[in-house]
Amino acid sequence: MKQVESAEDISTLAFGFMASKALFAALHIDVFGALALGTKTAKELAAATKIPTHRMETLVTALVSVGLLARDGDLIANGPASEQYLVRDGADYFGDYLRFQIDRQMYPFMEHLDQVLVGETDGVDFASYADWMADKGQAEMFSRSQHSGSLGPGAVLAKRLALSDDATSLLDVGGGSGAFSIMFCKRFPNLHATVLDFPNVIEVGQRFVAEAGLEDRIDFLAADGMAANWPENQDVVLMSYLLSGVPGDAIPNLCAEAYRVLKPNGSIAVHDFMVGDDRSGPPLAALWQLQHMVYTPDGFGLTPGYIQSTLKAAGFEVTESRDLIPGMTKVVIGRKS
Ligand SMILES: C[S@@+](CC[C@H](N)C(=O)[O-])C[C@H]1O[C@@H](n2cnc3c(N)ncnc32)[C@H](O)[C@@H]1O
Repeated sequence: MKQVESAEDISTLAFGFMASKALFAALHIDVFGALALGTKTAKELAAATKIPTHRMETLVTALVSVGLLARDGDLIANGPASEQYLVRDGADYFGDYLRFQIDRQMYPFMEHLDQVLVGETDGVDFASYADWMADKGQAEMFSRSQHSGSLGPGAVLAKRLALSDDATSLLDVGGGSGAFSIMFCKRFPNLHATVLDFPNVIEVGQRFVAEAGLEDRIDFLAADGMAANWPENQDVVLMSYLLSGVPGDAIPNLCAEAYRVLKPNGSIAVHDFMVGDDRSGPPLAALWQLQHMVYTPDGFGLTPGYIQSTLKAAGFEVTESRDLIPGMTKVVIGRKS
């Protein structure tokens, strides 16, 4: 990682939240969607989004300065990544994940980071996932936006996972909206999935599964995965973003439970924010781990080495360990030997 060497570098870090907010503000008023219909002047964009022109000019200048938009004279256009990922209804759109989960939930949570770090909990909204997901509105917003963030990685993992046609059962622990299960079931026609999560989350997942027309292949189990006996006879157990959201000392038990419920030769996939074993980055994985601390104060900052050794201790043979979302998440895959 490039060292921070100048006052300007420090300022870029310190004021980075302003760039995040410029992106979120643009998403909320759908600047990228308006520009997908054709280049516009700031005045035309202001009219299309019902924002006063001078404010739109300031927002557009900020977005051009960080590379999200391009300016040619008076005409403004989406930059290439904005056009691909930030235009609503586009195939690769994940703007709802950013504007709801990140801007409306994670961003305000981060205000409590310094308190949680020193062990003060006064005024901290949620002390764990269980606590947080017990709030229906929060669970709805979180899970709907997580869906938009997880369909892409779910498709990538489904493509990379070497499952035989005999595999018929997947247990998706902490499976949220069911995004990974949906993508796995689309890729493997014999697969049936069970998504285990908290009740308010499951309500959201059931809607997405119905929309995908997979009600007959994806079931839901409302339970706390740390307390429940998981259903047995599984070909695959998936834990995607679960282990970063539980107290670190619960992880060995969860891996042992996965081993117990798998058939012989069954597969486990652990997908999560993971830094490298040398703990020097990558930055987005490291920062996500820091962010999780606010609602999982006893969580561990995961590394592939830690996951591999915990899986081995539970009895698994580790078969693969690789990046999934480059610079952010990794997946460790094992087999019950
Ligand atoms: C970041 S979301 C990921 C959802 C899904 N696995 C995905 O990758 O899209 C983490 C999920 O884990 C669930 N979760 C956290 N702790 C849990 C527990 N103890 N039991 C069941 N679900 C849990 C949360 O409710 C949430 O839906």
